Amino acid sequence: MGNAEKSWEKRLAGTPDALAVGFVESLSIDTRLYKYDIVGSIAHAQMLAERKLISRDEIRQIKDGLIQISEEIAAGRFRFRTEYEDIHMAIEAALIAKIGEAGKKLHTGRSRNDQVATDIRLWMRDEIELLRAKITCLQKAFVKLAGKYAGAVMPAYTHLQRAQPVSIACYLLSFVEQLDRDFLRLGNCSALLDVSPLGCGAIAGSTLPLDRKSTAKQLGFHDISYNSLDAVSDRDFCAEFIFDCSVIAAHLSRLAEDWIIYSTSEFAFVRIDDAYCTSSSMMPQKRNPDMLELIRGKAGRIYGALTGMLTILKAQPSGYNRDLQEDKVHIFSASDTIEACLDMAQAIVSHARFDTKKIAAGLDEGFLDATALAEYLVGKGVAFREAHGIVGSLVAFCEKAGTKLAEITLDEFRRHCGKVEPDVYDSLGAAGVAERYATEGAGGIRQGKDQIAYWTGRLAKR
Ligand code: ARG
Repeated sequence: MGNAEKSWEKRLAGTPDALAVGFVESLSIDTRLYKYDIVGSIAHAQMLAERKLISRDEIRQIKDGLIQISEEIAAGRFRFRTEYEDIHMAIEAALIAKIGEAGKKLHTGRSRNDQVATDIRLWMRDEIELLRAKITCLQKAFVKLAGKYAGAVMPAYTHLQRAQPVSIACYLLSFVEQLDRDFLRLGNCSALLDVSPLGCGAIAGSTLPLDRKSTAKQLGFHDISYNSLDAVSDRDFCAEFIFDCSVIAAHLSRLAEDWIIYSTSEFAFVRIDDAYCTSSSMMPQKRNPDMLELIRGKAGRIYGALTGMLTILKAQPSGYNRDLQEDKVHIFSASDTIEACLDMAQAIVSHARFDTKKIAAGLDEGFLDATALAEYLVGKGVAFREAHGIVGSLVAFCEKAGTKLAEITLDEFRRHCGKVEPDVYDSLGAAGVAERYATEGAGGIRQGKDQIAYWTGRLAKR
């Protein structure tokens, strides 16, 4: 195609260098916006008709033409040509080819700058709903798994050293809490991007009597943007969206890391279903947690997208700059990756099993009841700092003697602290401790069951 056919480039001399054509195009990336582009164009044309800038016959032709193009793209019958640069020009050119003169009026009072800013927002609004649905499914999988092990106890770790006993439910529901903040964060992102840039044109709006509220309403936006210069150049919502994806990725990477460790022979707390393991080309015994490793690894791709997006935004002069076209590479990469990770995590969690026997058999290792013992002494009137020291020496004593706190004789306890009474044994043993946590939100069995009930009810409403 020569420049003569590109009506918007009559200003330029000669034919464009093929190198430049390939370099500037975004059709290979933004084709997936086509539905939003068409919906946006129909709303714009409708408004032009309301304002008598096009006739009733013209709006009918435009609508029919755009719907046909949408069907052609959906059916894979549309011929994309990179000379058209992007999805906006490709669709407009196809419309003009189809309906002629009326098609040439579609772009009245519009620029690709407000058009693309609108398309991305429409896409993102839907994408956020999809991600929120996937988050909810994963949360439900965690709650279901927690319900299976509501009465079971496991060690909780700080610094990856045994810390205190918690219910397995408490452990699993910690991910439900993280994911719920991700859900809310995406909701906030959606609320912030919910303004229509359409009608802001290239940078300064239009001298034509466009009705911006009409297009905003048709497209389901809550309001219009009130500064045309800002509206065509604002992509902070893109950075925010990728940040939200990054935090989900961080949360999923922590789950992945835990379960990679918990599924080793050394731990053997969790059994990942065979369907989500791979074997080795050489070592026949292997069951490798590759899916979890990939969830962990793909966080890198999403963080890369965030860095890419923020770098595009940095120090851009005011107004639209073509740098912004690169936004789509990053938002699509982040959303595709996090969607895949959420699906995979949900499948893994739904099919995981905890080996409660193995976990229970090791519960009395590592002095998980030490803190509860110090709190027992507090109950007997010992100051906490002193109690902490007493239990510290008791643990050192046990380590030397090769015993557990629960196996210490009353005489020995009393040698360390005169206030110990025979009821001390009620405070010992990891499983018992998990029954006795008294604070709200604690890692106990009772709190775990309460939380399961709470989340079951809350998620059922979504
Ligand atoms: N493909 C461009 C993008 O994605 C559309 C806007 C181009 N505008 C322009 N004035 N060159 O940002």
